[in-house]
Amino acid sequence: MAERTLIIIKPDAVQRHLVGEIIGRFEKKGFKIVAAKFLQLSEKQTGQLYAAHVEKAFYKPLVKYISSAPLLVMVWEADGIIDMARKMMGATFGYYAEMGTIRGDFSSSERYNLVHGSDSPESAQQEIKLFFAPNEMVDYKFTDSHWLYGKNT
Ligand code: RTP
Ligand code: MG
Repeated sequence: MAERTLIIIKPDAVQRHLVGEIIGRFEKKGFKIVAAKFLQLSEKQTGQLYAAHVEKAFYKPLVKYISSAPLLVMVWEADGIIDMARKMMGATFGYYAEMGTIRGDFSSSERYNLVHGSDSPESAQQEIKLFFAPNEMVDYKFTDSHWLYGKNT
């Protein structure tokens, strides 16, 4: 199976009508969506997602931001997707992110940053487990996968 990552379209992106724009970028890149849930996280669920940051100064505002309004949690799949998705998202804050990235193109904030993507295979596995049971992820093939993922061998 190809690599999987957890992508979250965060509350600011939902409120700013950017859900379709962000999904469209991943879709056009050739990534495959295998699961999705639209929900509002409790502070406890947000704490589980960002457990690694519990000691950081920005932890409290981060939990408030993420639990304040609904968001879209998804699992996407492709070989190498974790690194590619992070590149497409750009640096943590849009204020610093390169133009052409999601954050660089649509965010000017030093707090709200539209999108989350797992940063390693280990965190992807843990984060996916927080939101999806194995049978909630759909296994299927694209009919054009030869053209999307071919290596010309
Ligand atoms: P994410 O986990 O959401 O994909 O973002 P990231 O890897 O680029 O950034 P990370 O360092 O993991 O931080 C997680 C989220 O915490 C908020 N944050 N605030 N200095 C600050 O005020 C600060 N630093 C980070 C952001 O919402 C970031 O996405
Ligand atoms: Mg992170």
